[in-house]
Amino acid sequence: MIVVLSVGGSVICHSQHRFAEYSRVLKTVSSDHTVFVVVGGGATARDYIEKARTFEADEAFCDAIGIGVTRLNARLLIAALGRDAYPVPPETQEDAVVAALFRRIVVMGGTVPGHTTDAVAAILAEHAQADLLINATATDGIYTKDPKKHPDAVKLDEISPERLVGLIAAEKMGAGANLPLDMLAAKIIERSGISTVVIDGSDPSNVLTALRGEQIGTYVR
Ligand code: UTP
Repeated sequence: MIVVLSVGGSVICHSQHRFAEYSRVLKTVSSDHTVFVVVGGGATARDYIEKARTFEADEAFCDAIGIGVTRLNARLLIAALGRDAYPVPPETQEDAVVAALFRRIVVMGGTVPGHTTDAVAAILAEHAQADLLINATATDGIYTKDPKKHPDAVKLDEISPERLVGLIAAEKMGAGANLPLDMLAAKIIERSGISTVVIDGSDPSNVLTALRGEQIGTYVR
């Protein structure tokens, strides 16, 4: 299979140990599958962006800072993977697909201002004609409402891309669903019909469970 893993910065930057755990899982997965990883920026990106805003930097400039941090995090995962990784983070999805021809794990960060690494991963999944997009995030799936605010929120085992787009639109209107995917990523998943699963990224072995096709997190299909 061709697999794209989007791992949140807050998830992978939790500790150095987490980078090592992810690299072990990814090495296992890459013996059977073509693997691409997109790494987020996490707290460091937010910290740098906040500091830049105090200097009244514009939002596109702040995005460029965020992209820089995602690429640094990508390099750290490349360091953990050693010779199993393509040695530099590609700066575009097209370059990532070309890099995969070297038969190593391809790790990248952000691309252009205005979106997040979830959207980068969804576009990469399109370009690479991926069989599965795995979103390893800070929650254990997609809920009907924000579970932190609503005790009656229900975790969904499965959701259609159309309903996901609707939930994200509702969140934007202030309904407070607190979703792990952004609108652009959801729209791309909808238009391409990419099989997607949102999992709890705090346990990297959840990636293996998802690849076995077992029920975990929330499937978008
Ligand atoms: P992230 O994708 O990490 O954003 O990119 P996030 O939503 O904060 O995700 P977590 O916390 O890692 O899960 C960090 C920032 O980098 C910029 C945006 O400003 C984003 O908020 N960025 C990232 C881009 O502008 N373009 C990209 O392609 C990627």
